[in-house]
Amino acid sequence: QRVAILISGRGSNMMALVEQARGYEVVLVASDKPEAAGLVWARERGLATFSLSPKGIGKAAYEAQLDAALRKAEVGTIALAGYMRLISDDFVARWRGRIVNIHPSLLPLYKGLDTHARAIAAGDEHAGCSVHVVTEELDGGAVLGQSRVAVLQDDDAETLAARVLSAEHALYPRILSEFVMTPIDRIRETGLSLPETE
Ligand code: GRF
Repeated sequence: QRVAILISGRGSNMMALVEQARGYEVVLVASDKPEAAGLVWARERGLATFSLSPKGIGKAAYEAQLDAALRKAEVGTIALAGYMRLISDDFVARWRGRIVNIHPSLLPLYKGLDTHARAIAAGDEHAGCSVHVVTEELDGGAVLGQSRVAVLQDDDAETLAARVLSAEHALYPRILSEFVMTPIDRIRETGLSLPETE
């Protein structure tokens, strides 16, 4: 499966997805921020990159060019990884069921921003992260997998975010592999031999 990763910043989840790729190949790293640190890493790894800022050209033109780059790269699945831009309903519809995202909370709790501060303020015992399908509703699509992380007594949003981020790096590649794998890939994974086809 050919996967594109969309980033806006440092790209640590992108790095985890590239380094732990199993059952998929990262064929493009794209960013709405040409200065994103993650792009430098991707280029150094020899990965194809695409970057374009919507500033000046508008969202529709930006998304049209992004869409063209994704299609040219024959992408099957789009993985959002710290991509800080809302995707239009039209773009979601064109890639229906083929966009996934990682969100730093135990969805359906704390959609949107400041998830860790909100979990601490609520006195939650656990925080965590979720990989979900992207739909028109922000952070609202089907949850594919989650990791729980204990909230410690002295945690602030920053210390909690750092531990959740480690959990993200383990969760996302595992769930993306499961998501892209066809039933026949799954059988092959078990090591069972399949009858030869002529
Ligand atoms: C991650 O915590 C992700 O869950 C959130 O933004 C952060 C991105 O970090 N959406 P990185 O760019 O993957 O390092």
